Amino acid sequence: MSIVDEIKARLDIVDVIGSYIPLKRSGKNYKALCPFHEEKTPSFVVFPETQTWHCFGACGTGGDVFSFVMKKEGVDFLGALRLLAERAGIPWTEEKEGDAQSQLRERLREIHAAATAHFQELLHHHPEGEVARAYLQQRGLSQETVTAFQLGYARDAWDDLLQYLRSLGYQEEELEKAGLIIVRDEGRMYDRFRHRLMIPIHDAQGRVIAFAGRVLGEGHPKYLNSPQTPIFDKGRTLYGYAQAVRAIREKGEAIIVEGYMDVLSAHQAGFRNVVASMGTALTPTQLRLLSRHTRRIILALDADVAGQQAALRGIEVARENLERDVQPMITPTGALRFEATLNVDLRILRLPEGMDPDDLIRQDPSQWEKLVREALPVVEFYLQYIQETLDLSTAEGKAEAIRIMKPLLREVASAVMRDHYIQQLARLLRVDERVLAADILDEPRPRRRRARPKESPPSPAPQPTPPLNTVQEMERHFILLLLRAPDTIRTLDEELELLGLEEFRWEELEDTRHRIIIQVLLTSLIGGNLTSAEDILSQIPDEMLEYARSLVEEAKSLPDTPEHLMPHKILTALIWLRLLRHKEAARQIRFLIEEAQEADEHTLITYSIRLGNHLRAIRELERLLPALTLTR
Ligand code: CTP
Ligand code: MN
Repeated sequence: MSIVDEIKARLDIVDVIGSYIPLKRSGKNYKALCPFHEEKTPSFVVFPETQTWHCFGACGTGGDVFSFVMKKEGVDFLGALRLLAERAGIPWTEEKEGDAQSQLRERLREIHAAATAHFQELLHHHPEGEVARAYLQQRGLSQETVTAFQLGYARDAWDDLLQYLRSLGYQEEELEKAGLIIVRDEGRMYDRFRHRLMIPIHDAQGRVIAFAGRVLGEGHPKYLNSPQTPIFDKGRTLYGYAQAVRAIREKGEAIIVEGYMDVLSAHQAGFRNVVASMGTALTPTQLRLLSRHTRRIILALDADVAGQQAALRGIEVARENLERDVQPMITPTGALRFEATLNVDLRILRLPEGMDPDDLIRQDPSQWEKLVREALPVVEFYLQYIQETLDLSTAEGKAEAIRIMKPLLREVASAVMRDHYIQQLARLLRVDERVLAADILDEPRPRRRRARPKESPPSPAPQPTPPLNTVQEMERHFILLLLRAPDTIRTLDEELELLGLEEFRWEELEDTRHRIIIQVLLTSLIGGNLTSAEDILSQIPDEMLEYARSLVEEAKSLPDTPEHLMPHKILTALIWLRLLRHKEAARQIRFLIEEAQEADEHTLITYSIRLGNHLRAIRELERLLPALTLTR
């Protein structure tokens, strides 16, 4: 049994949630004041039967025991797993679990820990470390910063680290896998990092997984980075994340800069919510990492246009010694889609000409704070950008402006915001707003805007019975179908839109494991690279890999469906799922209304509105379903 199943088997959601907030029995279920929003009458319900929870009040959130702990404790899936495993008395550490691969990974982490200690020792206590100590002083890095980030020094020798790690009993082969040793064809071996300031790169748990070595003074390459290894993937790592995560949560804001020094300076100056993308273009995975902790993410970009374009468009600037970055990258439109799907607020901070955050903070920390405050939402940033770089009085300027803005405006999720921006652009360009709107919106937009089908569906047929009975079964079925044809998620929103239905959001699913699978799918989608079920598995956390694998296997054994019918099948499954959910919610709210007779009027009104919404949704979905099931 996997750790996740074991936790589910041993812990009762009522006990777990009951240990955080007082629960009151109400029929088969339990009620409480929702811990995630202010309320006077309890509309937070825990369902022992399905081991799920849901808030029927203002916040409308819900899920399983994992998502509750994640939300309440502010931890990610693994964090919740750790807490719950402990609670269930299941001996578990991430490392003990698993196969040869995870043993290798653990071994590589040990090697990095040993190397870090060695480099620190050399920096602080070795005579040869003087040159690095002097460099740090010249760069104005304090002892506190040096310690917090575990900086070190690699000696000016061919095999200092190699010998040291050998003496600890590590094999050359694993040292090579760790990326610390380079082996030549003739079998000659030497240290990758020599005579450099060593900057350890940590994973989310604060364990060292790679290094960057900075040349002491001038020289080439300026930074030498660890290659891609089983524990290090540049596109999935943010420098400084482990040190920044607390501040990010506290401030409700994360700032992404480009370089190591920028992070070190920022933290030293007390701006601890800063992380670095390490010079490469930002990837969706990196953004997703942050989106778990904060809604607001600010990207600090170079002043120069090329810089801005490169960072957002994902044009890889060829860097010396960087392994090819195979991660998908964020484009401006991808950024907007990301905002919508993961519900974040992405802003852009523009740095003054020729300065990086390190220079800026050193010169005047208050200037940095000001720029952070003034960071602009993506679309507004580009509106400003076209004003500064184009002559908007000429026809060419206007055309170019529209060319830049069109794809962006079409991605704006909210119709109100989109109209607002179109108005603004029309004013800037001095063109008729309706003409501009028509130009921008003419082609069928890939997502969002709701459009009713022109003809009403055939007259109501007898109600089909759901293919599966419970919400849980339906949710699982939906995931299975998606794993069978992952690419379908691409067009799911379009199909929903054609039926006048809302976009798909991962919160619609209750099982945290399913949510994670969806997030992996969406991330690959944003990155523009197609996914097979196997690709998805490679991005799933080890702890739920077993479950995900079993789903993929099960998906393979589903009855054969011609590929072109899969989108329809998936859409239908989702609609069933929604219908079952709305019915369940309506039932619950009726129950809450009955019980809340003495409750304040405000609460009752909220309930009635909610109930009305669910009933309307039920009617609408029931009207659609027969047509869907009959037409194909
Ligand atoms: N970078 C890299 N390899 C290089 C050059 C740069 O990986 N050869 C990455 C590093 O993450 C670096 C970032 O790109 O921090 C930004 O590069 P740059 O602006 O040149 O360096 P700074 O961070 O400003 O470093 P310093 O202040 O020490 O010059
Ligand atoms: Mn710099």
